[in-house]
Amino acid sequence: MCGIVGYVGNENAAPILIECLKKLEYRGYDSAGIAVIDKNEINMVKATGKIKNLCDKTNDGCSLSGNIGIAHTRWATHGAPNDINAHPHVSNNKKFAVVHNGIIENYMDLKKELVDKGYKFNSETDTEVVVHLLDMYYDKDFKKSVMKTVSRLEGSYALGVICKDYPNTIYAAMLNSPLIIGVGVSENYFASDVTALVQHTKNVIYIEEGEFAEITREKINVFDCTGEPVAREITRIVWDVEAAEKGGYEHFMLKEIMEQPRAIKSAIEPRIKKGKITLDDSGMPDDIMKDINRIVITACGSAYHAACTGKYMIEQLARIPVEVDLASEFRYRNPIINKSTLVIVISQSGETADTIAALKEAKQLGAPVLAIVNVVGSAISKLADYVIYTWAGPEIAVATTKGYTTQVTVLCLLSVFLAQKVGSIDKKTASSLTEDIQQIPKLAQRAIDLNPQIPYLARKYHNERSMFFIGRNTDYAVCLEGSLKLKEISYIHSEAYAAGELKHGTIALIDNDRLVVALACNERLLDKLVSNIREVKARGAKVLGIITERSTKIIPESDDIIYIPEGNTLFNAVAQVIPLQLFAYYVALENDCDIDKPKNLAKSVTVE
Ligand code: M6R
Repeated sequence: MCGIVGYVGNENAAPILIECLKKLEYRGYDSAGIAVIDKNEINMVKATGKIKNLCDKTNDGCSLSGNIGIAHTRWATHGAPNDINAHPHVSNNKKFAVVHNGIIENYMDLKKELVDKGYKFNSETDTEVVVHLLDMYYDKDFKKSVMKTVSRLEGSYALGVICKDYPNTIYAAMLNSPLIIGVGVSENYFASDVTALVQHTKNVIYIEEGEFAEITREKINVFDCTGEPVAREITRIVWDVEAAEKGGYEHFMLKEIMEQPRAIKSAIEPRIKKGKITLDDSGMPDDIMKDINRIVITACGSAYHAACTGKYMIEQLARIPVEVDLASEFRYRNPIINKSTLVIVISQSGETADTIAALKEAKQLGAPVLAIVNVVGSAISKLADYVIYTWAGPEIAVATTKGYTTQVTVLCLLSVFLAQKVGSIDKKTASSLTEDIQQIPKLAQRAIDLNPQIPYLARKYHNERSMFFIGRNTDYAVCLEGSLKLKEISYIHSEAYAAGELKHGTIALIDNDRLVVALACNERLLDKLVSNIREVKARGAKVLGIITERSTKIIPESDDIIYIPEGNTLFNAVAQVIPLQLFAYYVALENDCDIDKPKNLAKSVTVE
């Protein structure tokens, strides 16, 4: 969604801000803008479209002078993507400028109040109320006007504000939206995302919900909503600049696909001690399962697909009933949750609005909440009772790859961990399953090495209008993710279906030459799958079989084959999905799509 960034220091602010904005491009946006204070005046430039347009208008920022500024990439919610609606927004007297990520839910009421008081609105955005409120409450005291303004806002915001009377001070405030303060030497920053800052500083401060920060060249002061100072520690970020760069790959997505064996290893290694899985770092108490009789996992998009694999694994090993729900549905269905339900939320970004809302709902109903999250310091990591980090490193491409596979990996660990806790498996089984999990990074690498034919298959099939992914059991859960990957980056329609369900209606869509991708990695269900493949072949479909290395049954039924290394079937989703990610990637490449920034999508979906 929107990206925000601010700088105050000794350098010319605009070129730095533009560099930082470029690091936020992956979040998805449709316009960008920048405001700096120079000689006690606010100068502002905005541009619809890519950041390049802003660069062209400002000579890469060099045509704007001033050592303090704020900048924004906008993903339109209220009002069309154009120069007027682009941020920053300025007050009528040009005293204040503001950038905002989030949604001010009560903006209509505030707008009416401000219009009645004579304020003139230029844009259709919800954000503009903020800048007029700042002006309305201003009595020569910038801090007070910020405090009063944020006290009126409902919804979500990460805000950066400058005032021409204070040419060395930025205020940044947050509620339900990511915000990080970057600590430099004689310069300081704020941003919606760590990736914007790592090139400048790795020392950051995470402020809490409802707090705000006063950022000057020399100092950062954090306050609670009443204006009382609060102490917040500096955290050192472990990500390096290279981790947020393409490192020789044509796209971040390809780089992130290739990084998976290493990322998965990072998720596993610290959690296996003396051959035993430990999740001490999550903060879960030893007797976490004492009063738990049910698990609900809730998430969105790919994280939801990871949850689907988790259901199979946890139910199979721990024999605890697991329900999986889309976060956007969960909160509005009056869910039956109580303190005996362990609610697990999964999110790469930790900032997805629907997942945050589901988490809050679960907590309100008294359930303990465990979060599986990648981004340290994200809203979800702070709101949950316990956190298991996936340690995937920064994921820049909008389509998640290593974010998803590390989530699945954590669910593998968790399923064995819970099974041990409830005593549904003995020590010997636990230790053999743990060894299987330790094989996953190698299997992930082998899944890449085994399939050099994928670019060729992409060339063969890139003109398809629609594809179907079918499978059973965990294979079906992987189909959901393979299908989403294809549609989100190549814009080819596709559907994932439980193979046995196809004949109950959807088979009507199978006709001559339709491509069906059949995941056939579950030995126990192979014969059933052969029947399903024959059903589609009888209607003229072509079949791309996804099979394990030693399996032969599907070969005669398939037009083409992708191989998956042999591993424990229950844990093999990670190895299975990687060739599907590569297939989606190369199909999108053939079709000349904007792979890292697919149309209409944003990296973290911070609106409901
Ligand atoms: O950051 P999150 O894991 O909470 O994001 C959830 C979904 O928005 C995300 O997985 C989305 O579906 C991706 N575009 C999938 O590639």
